Amino acid sequence: MIKFSQVLFLLNAVWTLTRGDADVFCQLGQSCILPCSFQAGDEAVIHWIQQPELTKKQVHSFFHHKDQLDQQDARFKNRTSMFHDQISKGNASLRLTGVILEDEGRYMCYTSILAGKEEFFVNLKVYAPVQDVNIQHLGNEIICSSDGIYPEPALFWTPDQTDQKIRLTQTEQKLYSIRSSVPSADSMDVTCTVSTPAGRRRATLESTVHENILGTETSISCSNLTPFTMYIWRFNHSEEMVRGTPQGPHSPTEKWQQHIVESSLEKLTLKQLQPNLTGIYTCEVWSDQETSVKSFFLHVTEDNNMNTIGIIVGVVVGVLVVVGVAVVVAVCCSRNKSKKKQDNSVL
Ligand SMILES: *[C@@H]1O[C@H](CO)[C@@H](O)[C@H](O)[C@H]1NC(C)=O
Ligand SMILES: *[C@@H]1O[C@H](CO)[C@@H](O)[C@H](O)[C@H]1NC(C)=O
Ligand SMILES: *[C@@H]1O[C@H](CO)[C@@H](O)[C@H](O)[C@H]1NC(C)=O
Ligand SMILES: *[C@@H]1O[C@H](CO)[C@@H](O)[C@H](O)[C@H]1NC(C)=O
Repeated sequence: MIKFSQVLFLLNAVWTLTRGDADVFCQLGQSCILPCSFQAGDEAVIHWIQQPELTKKQVHSFFHHKDQLDQQDARFKNRTSMFHDQISKGNASLRLTGVILEDEGRYMCYTSILAGKEEFFVNLKVYAPVQDVNIQHLGNEIICSSDGIYPEPALFWTPDQTDQKIRLTQTEQKLYSIRSSVPSADSMDVTCTVSTPAGRRRATLESTVHENILGTETSISCSNLTPFTMYIWRFNHSEEMVRGTPQGPHSPTEKWQQHIVESSLEKLTLKQLQPNLTGIYTCEVWSDQETSVKSFFLHVTEDNNMNTIGIIVGVVVGVLVVVGVAVVVAVCCSRNKSKKKQDNSVL
């Protein structure tokens, strides 16, 4: 007579399912969900293991109806969680927060219930999207650069530049910086595109206009970009001055309040121009699908002879289009109606 334990063993053998790996793309520093589902049943035992073929690392375990983290690898401390209310429904997905590059690799989701066990594999790939492409005129060169990218980016110019110098470097954290310079030509527009498999952005140097404005106030206008969710005016590419939504602008930061007269999407008006306002003013416009950026170089000079302030306004217009990230967001939002962009999506 066949014993019950033998039946179980047979069932186990039959039910050990190995499906194809799922690829999951997680944004560096954000949180991410590693999907796994299993046939729901009693006494579920779940183990998430990184690099099951090599140096196994215990990522997260759950059994006896609770998390079991005694054996958890130090690198995953405080960064993992499971959806406890979903486990009884066969959802063994793992939420990982603060994603780092070392998280890349293959993960096994092992589940076992009285009636059988299952293994499912997830390939986690980390990306750091192209966030900002800077383009500027320096001497008789045009320089395009972008930092903090992963995996290795590519850069190309349109129209094609035969005489480009390109430099790719990697920080200790393995993030890439790319920089390319081409001789400047005064007549035409150049576009620089930085891309990775996860997405790309473009910046266009449309023209450089030098204009002398007399007086103490100047206005910079952004674009008439259609449906947007948010815009941000920044100084020198990083410092935020003011942001707004379709309902209108918020108040400028304390430091900028004294300099700003008006700050809508269409127009940024600065008063009492002084030399420390020299710099690059950028307006970023976000919509669901893309980000567009226009940069303006404002040079405030004092002309002692004329006893006036001459302002040279160089206009650098950049348009950044995020293709890949838009796709990621589209997938994310169609699956999960909340518009949180920090969660991952499974491609
Ligand atoms: C598991 O539950 C989480 C949280 O509700 C959800 O985001 C995820 O899509 C679910 N995964 C599966 C495989 O059902
Ligand atoms: C995890 O969180 C606890 C409590 O919040 C804290 O004491 C501990 O230092 C954290 N561990 C790590 C590795 O961050
Ligand atoms: C410019 O200098 C003034 C003092 O002269 C200071 O109050 C202001 O914060 C400075 N603005 C910027 C943008 O650095
Ligand atoms: C802003 O950038 C310009 C040009 O790169 C530089 O000359 C200026 O010193 C910067 N201003 C501040 C306040 O950092």
